Amino acid sequence: MTAPQPLIAGNWKMNGLGPSLVEARAVAAGLQATMARVAICPPATLIHRMAEALAGTPLLIGGQDNHWDDAGAFTGDLSAAMLADAGASLVILGHSERRAGYRETDEVVAAKVRAALRAGLEPIVCVGETLEQRKAGDALAVVTGQVRGSLPAELAGGAFSVAYEPVWAIGTGLTPTTIEIEEVHRAIRATLVEMFGEAGKAVAILYGGSVKPSNAAEILHADEVGGALVGGASLKAEDFLGIIRGL
Ligand code: PGA
Repeated sequence: MTAPQPLIAGNWKMNGLGPSLVEARAVAAGLQATMARVAICPPATLIHRMAEALAGTPLLIGGQDNHWDDAGAFTGDLSAAMLADAGASLVILGHSERRAGYRETDEVVAAKVRAALRAGLEPIVCVGETLEQRKAGDALAVVTGQVRGSLPAELAGGAFSVAYEPVWAIGTGLTPTTIEIEEVHRAIRATLVEMFGEAGKAVAILYGGSVKPSNAAEILHADEVGGALVGGASLKAEDFLGIIRGL
């Protein structure tokens, strides 16, 4: 089984209007052929325009969430097929801002993952403990529990990644030590192998939470780290490229 191909994905969250496409174009222009797969997940309103702006470049586009159903009376929601139709090939699911802010449980996340697969999207499934859970010594149990609960059996044989994002490291400037990151990533790997057998070894496990150009190289070279999910530092091409170059 070959090592997973690294993935570096930028999560723009609720940021970005038309003029921000300039940043995406600059990222595409700065990518070199041999690097990891690189994606930007803009707000859904920009997916189509970004797909047009990036046509012919290797930069991938992702959504930030999708509904668990394929269509219907869900005012304000977007289906996975809509994201794919607009030009996305990946989707972030189970981000802690959705788990905490919209009460998404592991069951909901798993249903959304199934919907993404039906639409041909590659899920990036997020897991991570809160500071209270870490202080209580529960980080590994929480994270591996989320992996078990959020990854449906339908993922077997398909392309997906898991992003470990400690909630206390998101947008705070705080990061776990490399040893702490490796401990969690190894536990996630063991869980993936338990769930998916040999194929679990080929799943990229991304780290997310305050990744920036100055800490990217150390994090990206840690054991079992197969890429990064980047929030704030993905909004500016120069910073995002600085992280990508850390590989
Ligand atoms: P951050 O966000 O890089 O701004 O900490 C990461 C994320 O939420 O994916």
